[in-house]
Amino acid sequence: MSKITRRDFLKLVNRVMAAAGLAAVLGPVLAYFYPSDLTETPAEPVLVAPEADMPVGESRTVSFGRYSALVINTPAGLKAYSAVCTHFACIAKWDAEKRSIVCPCHDGYFDPLDGSVISGPPPTGLKPLQTEIKDGVIYVSAGEES
Ligand code: FES
Repeated sequence: MSKITRRDFLKLVNRVMAAAGLAAVLGPVLAYFYPSDLTETPAEPVLVAPEADMPVGESRTVSFGRYSALVINTPAGLKAYSAVCTHFACIAKWDAEKRSIVCPCHDGYFDPLDGSVISGPPPTGLKPLQTEIKDGVIYVSAGEES
């Protein structure tokens, strides 16, 4: 059995550290160019809130399958989007003061009326979802696009 010298051991540690560093750099780069599938959605509409609890300007973030959905009651009616930011998949939120959907991770701003990018690094707008009201309760679903 061969004996491992101190030099060999340090070379091994060096290579492991280099591999870990490379993975730490390549992981986010690969995630940017090959984003994970964010289309997994629940089969049934998801309850958001009673209509009476969401006046104009209010929003709700609800669990929507593996991800979150953002529902906003705008002056133009109910709007719903996947809350998953198209940049690095942080969860975007409604900012009532700024009247925008904001991603806190890198200051991405989205238009609440169509989910398009207003400013910041997100490459595309938020995925739109469908809303419906049944018996005074708001539901969100993937609609026909899923
Ligand atoms: S993850 Fe949303 S702006 Fe970067």
